[in-house]
Amino acid sequence: MEEIFRFTVNGEERECRTEQPLLRYLRDELRLTSVKDGCSEGACGTCTIIIDGKAVRSCIMSTKKAAGKNIITTEGLSLREKEAFVYAFGRAGAVQCGFCIPGMVMSAKALIDQNPAPTEEEIKKAIRGNICRCTGYKKIIEGIDLAARILRGELEIDEAVEEGERGYAVGDSAFRVDVREKVLGEGEYVDDVVMPGMLYGGAVRTEYPRARIVKIDTEGARALPGVVCILKAEDVPRNKVGHIQQDWDVMIAEGDITRCIGDALCLIAAESPLILEEAKKLVKVEYEVLPLVHNIHEAMAEGAPRIHENGNLCQKRHVTRGDAKKALAESKYKVTESFTTPFTEHAFMEPECGLAFPYKDGVKVLTSDQGVYDTRKEIAYMLEWDPDRIVVENKLVGGGFGGKEDVTVQHTSVLLALKTGRPVKVKFSRQESINFHPKRHAMEGTFTLGCDENGIFTGLDCEIYFDTGAYASLCGPVLERACTHSVGPYCYQNTDIRGFGYYTNNPPRGPSGASAYARANLPSR
Ligand code: FES
Ligand code: FES
Repeated sequence: MEEIFRFTVNGEERECRTEQPLLRYLRDELRLTSVKDGCSEGACGTCTIIIDGKAVRSCIMSTKKAAGKNIITTEGLSLREKEAFVYAFGRAGAVQCGFCIPGMVMSAKALIDQNPAPTEEEIKKAIRGNICRCTGYKKIIEGIDLAARILRGELEIDEAVEEGERGYAVGDSAFRVDVREKVLGEGEYVDDVVMPGMLYGGAVRTEYPRARIVKIDTEGARALPGVVCILKAEDVPRNKVGHIQQDWDVMIAEGDITRCIGDALCLIAAESPLILEEAKKLVKVEYEVLPLVHNIHEAMAEGAPRIHENGNLCQKRHVTRGDAKKALAESKYKVTESFTTPFTEHAFMEPECGLAFPYKDGVKVLTSDQGVYDTRKEIAYMLEWDPDRIVVENKLVGGGFGGKEDVTVQHTSVLLALKTGRPVKVKFSRQESINFHPKRHAMEGTFTLGCDENGIFTGLDCEIYFDTGAYASLCGPVLERACTHSVGPYCYQNTDIRGFGYYTNNPPRGPSGASAYARANLPSR
């Protein structure tokens, strides 16, 4: 017998006939966009709602378990609560990308409903399951404290502040123009957009970082009802993208060798996310697994497997001034140290999402992007089109920190939209996001610094090695900045700085929040 799950959502009786994550029901069927999907696995807190008075992560609560309960999302706050949180978060400067904020608000409401005058410690405890990658938590804690004071009648909302009518003095925080839409979950991130006739796209990715793809059998997936199209490497006009160097295969063709775990083998567009996931499982791939290049040392070794046709050295730089060798030889004191820094994941709260559709004589893509013109350039290169036929429109961006400079989902959503003639949304899972987008480079460097008897620096010699992973991304510019900033803020007249970026079979490495400066001047600091 069919089960029906009944519950109240924001004061209205609802029923659901399928057991599914509550997050999916609230977003996909009720279109409650404040309930954000940052991970779908209970780790980030962006999907936080209130169930029977308690803050709950809706991605790990099923519609079955929610039966009979009272559910509140940010959309269901009272007008007074909405105004209090908008004012308080805006006033405190608690909102940046905004992707975590509705979840924070719901955790805060659950606390304030129980405890109208929480201490700082109690606020910290209440939001311990909510991650924010942008603001640091201080301003969010201040915002929650301010909201509590408004709600218990100790503080009035000054509407002129949100309007900017009070003006600002140097050192004042401005009230951001997008606070209201972000606090209330009304602002549009790409994943909040749904178009008529929209398909859901995704990729089957390699199971092995380095393997020859012997065969990709898509017959089973093609036969699944609801699968609309499947593309392979041979269907792409020019099977390459790349921010500066076009070395990144859109898909790995049969007979070719994969370079990292994020490599796509085929693209699928389907009528629903569930059919898409089913179809991916039906694609059978035959691999010939090959030895890996794990790190810089293996990449440099004689006889190392070649990750790209031209070898494993991706980029090099040499920055000199004066005569470092002579200056160091004549220095009163010298010190030589080696440093390593690990690769770092950006972990922006909003996973990558792109929605493309045929537009005029070309295509339009809605993205969460750090550089719409670069994205247009990369798509134009792949399609061998005039860039004027491509429109890239940014929606709200749920954090990037350098990790959203390269194309990830934009170009694949475009390929599927052009093939099907329908809008196609491609959204990464958190794991896909981690596997695919370029990280901060892992770095190894050896630095020799010299100074005179008064401690004045005389010379610097250093050699820096980057692991740039499977693709170049921004290896060149980031390496260059590492080299030019390795002197730190000090005045040297003699420097000899050599930098090398090597391909490995790790996920690609690229820009990350001024990373090169911070790491390369470690020794000087
Ligand atoms: S905790 Fe639910 S989406 Fe991350
Ligand atoms: S404002 Fe919190 S993740 Fe961006």
